[in-house]
Amino acid sequence: VSSHAQLAPDPSGPRVRALEAALRAAIRSGRLTAGDRLPPSRALADDLGLARATVVEAYTQLRAEGYLSSRRGAGTWVAHDAHVPAAVPGAIAPDKPADRPPRFNFTPGLPDLTAFPRTAWTRALRRGLRDLPASSLGYNDPRGRPELREALASYLARTRGVAADPELVVVCAGFSHALALLSRILRRHGVRRIAMEDPYLWWHRNIAATAGLEVVPVPVDEHGARTNLLPETRAGVALLAPAHQFPLGALLHPERRTAAIAWARATDSLVIEDDYDAELRYDRPPVGALQALDPDRVIYAGTASKTLAPGLRLAWILVPRALLEPVRTLRWAEDVHVAATEQIALAQLLLAGAFQRHVRRMRTRYRARRDRLLAMLAERVPDASPVGIAAGLRVLLELPPGSPPAEELAAQASRRSIELFPVGPCYHDGRARYGAPDGLVLGYAGLPEHDFENGLTALGDLLARSLSLR
Ligand SMILES: Cc1ncc(COP(=O)(O)O)c(C=O)c1O
Repeated sequence: VSSHAQLAPDPSGPRVRALEAALRAAIRSGRLTAGDRLPPSRALADDLGLARATVVEAYTQLRAEGYLSSRRGAGTWVAHDAHVPAAVPGAIAPDKPADRPPRFNFTPGLPDLTAFPRTAWTRALRRGLRDLPASSLGYNDPRGRPELREALASYLARTRGVAADPELVVVCAGFSHALALLSRILRRHGVRRIAMEDPYLWWHRNIAATAGLEVVPVPVDEHGARTNLLPETRAGVALLAPAHQFPLGALLHPERRTAAIAWARATDSLVIEDDYDAELRYDRPPVGALQALDPDRVIYAGTASKTLAPGLRLAWILVPRALLEPVRTLRWAEDVHVAATEQIALAQLLLAGAFQRHVRRMRTRYRARRDRLLAMLAERVPDASPVGIAAGLRVLLELPPGSPPAEELAAQASRRSIELFPVGPCYHDGRARYGAPDGLVLGYAGLPEHDFENGLTALGDLLARSLSLR
């Protein structure tokens, strides 16, 4: 070690801890590498003006942590390289290079993140923390905080007509997490196949497949999933979005709702009801949840990702009683539960009615945006057909025959810093299987309010130019 001064501990902390921290930092930053000798404890103590015992203690601690090795008579050296390279942003998302975020993001599913109710959330968190007994900051019930489960049960009974028992509510880190959890549990209980709507969100197929389930497609038409075909899938569970199919936007026909329940009963199977954007209805009242038809067969799932923000990672499922213990057991073995503080904030937001007020405000805003988008499309690309416009945060824009492929439009858009989402990958085996038209799933909620008109103009210019060239 050329200069012991580099190891001088921060004089503000207790000396041993400070020396340990300085040594760790030197090793982790790569200043000291595997095999580098450390000065004898007495020499370093003299150099740094410390007691020798301080240095010995720091060396002992770092040996215990594996940073250092020593042998009597041979001194002390760095055990191995612990150099941690500076984080490369985006390195863990290989298919998404760390580009600048797009200027106009029309990816479906994103709410307006600039509209997140920061003040209400902060107030809810403050109030929740004030009333919280200290013990609640220990390990909680894996199902979630009781006040949140109760608030959700009453909210869901009121707004979605679900059969809601707070004992059966389980708070998860997003619907994705709930799906992963349920897939693993069902796989462990002998379920081999999961039926999924085709088209659907492709990463949910990945989640189930990662848990070891075979994903079997169920075709979708304007009345939703063709649940009369469920018996042919030989699946033990079906994932359906009855209230708002993704990405076609259909509402599941009443007969198909009944068919799904009949299938589940006849084959001793389960349905997972993905009720991801139930609150956002514009032209029709919400239709009650499928779960109410048979709470022992249907697992209801909702999320805060559309109403508040996906970054919260907050979702909830209502499970049949028979699944409760398997869910709790798996949570104990995995993540235990979602952060208690976030749960408390959401509970307070619901109890104070602030969540409901936020949803009402956003519904009005999104409806106005939807109308503006449809007007723009009718004017600039009248041959293209928007579908599934009655609800949610997106429309599917079906492209007229002879248009460039949606992937090509997305690539052109990307060069103008506009992010578009082609419908193709939502299909299990491609669109050709159903002869479905090509299209773009246009999310109109993700832009900040002040930039929405600019985004519409940029999108209109791009589509009008590309589609007029065909
Ligand atoms: C069809 C569908 N289901 C569920 C979700 C919610 O996922 P999560 O709660 O994991 O954010 C989304 C979000 O994009 C979605 O599009």
